[in-house]
Amino acid sequence: MSELFGIIGNPIEHSLSPLIQNKAYQSHHIDAHFQAFHVEYQDLETAIKGMKTLGIKGFIVTVPFKAKVIPYLDEIDQTAQKTKAVNIVHMIDGKYVGYNFDGKAHLEALLEDMGIQSLSNQHILIIGAGGAAQSIYYTLSQFKDIKIDIANRTKEKAKILKDIGVNVKNTNVISLAEAENKHIQYDIIIQTTSIGMWPETDKSPINISHLKPGTFVSDIIYNPSETKILKQAHENGARTQNGKKMLALQNALAIEMWTGKKVDYNVMLQTLNEALS
Ligand code: ATR
Repeated sequence: MSELFGIIGNPIEHSLSPLIQNKAYQSHHIDAHFQAFHVEYQDLETAIKGMKTLGIKGFIVTVPFKAKVIPYLDEIDQTAQKTKAVNIVHMIDGKYVGYNFDGKAHLEALLEDMGIQSLSNQHILIIGAGGAAQSIYYTLSQFKDIKIDIANRTKEKAKILKDIGVNVKNTNVISLAEAENKHIQYDIIIQTTSIGMWPETDKSPINISHLKPGTFVSDIIYNPSETKILKQAHENGARTQNGKKMLALQNALAIEMWTGKKVDYNVMLQTLNEALS
């Protein structure tokens, strides 16, 4: 029997997950279908119970349910516990287990595009302290001798974020203005806010005009492909990446977990590129 997987969110009409997931099933001969489900706020618990009853083995959770879904799951992994957010759910022995793969997918994409195996000894700037930043920071903070500055508009939120880290002694909380002043010092800059996302593509959280040679700039936004900050980084000779690979890798991780089949994330990356061109 064909399996059914899905994504829950609100709004959900514009999600690209059904397109890229179904493309991956098709190209890897996986007998499954992926469906987007619009869930009303007050119906979340009923929706999860219904999916469990129907035997749906896995689903993605997106805005605004990443934190709200936790009470309705049976277990959550360590990253989800730390970040208080879940974005992938897998049914194991009849139980729904929640995971947060944002950090893992971002790290894999970053290491691959930088062509390195570890981030030890790197000096990193994380811009933002929201949901995505939490998982990314928690994952990066596990590297030995990594130095991380977190810059956020609301400093209090960045201070709370710092506390979820593993090796917090090398983490500093700074303002966006301070980050702009010292941006020349960083090896890697990771932009995790929604600033610069379509349709407000003329915005950037900080101005980066004096990057040190070899700096790598990562923006988790995937639409547009080149945000203002990435464009500026590019113009200043930096290597860059947008959020498409992270998204494709995250979907590949979910499929592998749900079906036991390893899929080539490039199929999804190409589909994303075509859909967003
Ligand atoms: P997500 O889950 O996508 O990370 P979020 O939790 O709402 O979304 O976090 C959004 C991030 O973008 C936050 O770091 C937010 O800064 P604040 O903590 O000060 O709210 C940042 N952000 C969003 N719009 C911003 C803006 N116009 N200027 C500066 N920071 C902004």
